[in-house]
Amino acid sequence: MAKKTDEVIRRDREVFLTTTRQSYPFVAERGEGDFAYDIEGREFIDFTSFISVYNMGVNSSREVREAIKGQVDKLMHAAFTDYYSELPVEFGEMLIRMFPKGFGKIFLSNSGTEANEAAIKFSKLFTKRHYTIAFYNSFHGRTNGSLGMTASKAVQRENFGPFTGVVHVPFAYCYRCPFNSEYPGCGLSCVDYIRKYPLSKEVSPKEVAAIFTEPIQGEGGYIVPPKGYFKEIKRITEEHGMLLISDEVQAGYMRTGKFLAMDNFGVEADIYTMAKSIGAGLPMGATVARRSLGDIPAGSHSNTFGGNLAAVAGAKASLGHLMKNRKGIEAMVMLKGAKMKKALERMAERHGLIGDVRGIGMMLAIELVKDRRSKEPAVKEREEVIKNAYRKGLLLLPAGESSIRIIPPLTISEGSMVKGLEILEESIKMASKRK
Ligand SMILES: Cc1ncc(COP(=O)(O)O)c(C=O)c1O
Repeated sequence: MAKKTDEVIRRDREVFLTTTRQSYPFVAERGEGDFAYDIEGREFIDFTSFISVYNMGVNSSREVREAIKGQVDKLMHAAFTDYYSELPVEFGEMLIRMFPKGFGKIFLSNSGTEANEAAIKFSKLFTKRHYTIAFYNSFHGRTNGSLGMTASKAVQRENFGPFTGVVHVPFAYCYRCPFNSEYPGCGLSCVDYIRKYPLSKEVSPKEVAAIFTEPIQGEGGYIVPPKGYFKEIKRITEEHGMLLISDEVQAGYMRTGKFLAMDNFGVEADIYTMAKSIGAGLPMGATVARRSLGDIPAGSHSNTFGGNLAAVAGAKASLGHLMKNRKGIEAMVMLKGAKMKKALERMAERHGLIGDVRGIGMMLAIELVKDRRSKEPAVKEREEVIKNAYRKGLLLLPAGESSIRIIPPLTISEGSMVKGLEILEESIKMASKRK
């Protein structure tokens, strides 16, 4: 390890509790556009958007930064949940225009988990019911309510339970179908299962407030369900007066080419949650409910920093840019996404280590397997690919048991995209040799 890197990591470990640090020692110093630079001055192509935050380029645009700086000199925090201010109102009015007709009201918060906590509470308040259905492999956050729904890796829940009021059901993970079936021949038997088992034998549908889902599962492995899946899930919610909640924290904000990733499935949820990229680099979460659901009683939910003026200034500048250039951004994401997906599929033809290539728009992933027939997850090889890439100047993130996310900023140049994919392939080649 390099000297400065070594030293920061040593001091970090002295003062901070362990979190979810990556297997490679990247010490961030600065960033711009397609690139991040570490404390040694090394340049990296970013295929992570710093965990799906910098959709519009590393460190966001100059426009976003100037908006934040301007607001910081005026007033950073104005206790927006207790007093009023115009800037968050303007932002809220803009945000609502990005949702289907009849959406808004909004609750602003500081993170994905907080946006989801709010959605759980609101769904209970709106329906006067107390159970939630969530999916295996889902990731909704790490505070008590959202962790109760998260079921991606047992270590995330170990020692923190018991969690009550959540019933977990299998997701349509077709590459590893929990029912050993194949789509479309299966007729979506995973949806039938929800009706036949949990909703018949475990919990009365009359007591279920909401089905909570990511449109594409993120942390759990970049799992894309089949096209008709959410129509059937929505049918269940409509049959029983439940709400459908779409956690767009990772998949939303144009990552799949659409502002709402659920739109890829032709389904409208009742509540949407967003975070990560909506704040363009500063902490922000948003919970957006269908207007017909009504309001919540005064005093029943709030926070201190929701609507923080510095965060809203950046988010508003970023959203303003998106609204002005929406068509162009949509087309750009679909074009670059298609190019990257094709390149990954070609890579899969050359390397047996890649078992599956999947994703929509620029939310892509490869799943690594030791053997394509047995589909045994190539866990060690995945770590090796990611470390090799780091050594060669590419930042990558894992997902699920043996997948790698490919989520560069949506603004990435053709040159960086191609170079990043070349590094990825070299890294796969090196790990394959040692298999
Ligand atoms: C889909 C999804 N929901 C919720 C969260 C939690 O967000 P945060 O880490 O901001 O609390 C994440 C974080 O990765 C996520 O991917």
